[in-house]
Amino acid sequence: MPQRKRYLFVCVNRRPDGTPKGSCAQRGAVEIHAALKDALKDRGLAKTEVRACTSSCLDVCWAGPAIAVEPDGYFYGRVTMEDVPAIVESLANGTRVERLLLPSNDFDEKTAGPPLPAPKAKPAEGGEP
Ligand code: FES
Repeated sequence: MPQRKRYLFVCVNRRPDGTPKGSCAQRGAVEIHAALKDALKDRGLAKTEVRACTSSCLDVCWAGPAIAVEPDGYFYGRVTMEDVPAIVESLANGTRVERLLLPSNDFDEKTAGPPLPAPKAKPAEGGEP
């Protein structure tokens, strides 16, 4: 496989439920990573242009799910499944999704913007909806 032009490092770190800091996996990062891989493949970018990799904690947990885009050196934050098509489209076009870019204040928990809402607990199988 050739070296890709870009690598997406999708934080899939998971902390135990109830941890105040939360984690990207708790906010859907595992599913986002899988969707990015599928979308990059479907778009024909996966083998030559962009590889979506998993990552451990990128230390911007409050702004997760977080993705580091290298070698460009920017981060996406508060990424949701709905953002995947826009991310892939921007990669195809050599642009960035400006609304998802983490500003410098988001790299410090004290000055960061608000996190995504905590995910709702899924009902147990066979349980009440
Ligand atoms: S858990 Fe994802 S940045 Fe820390």
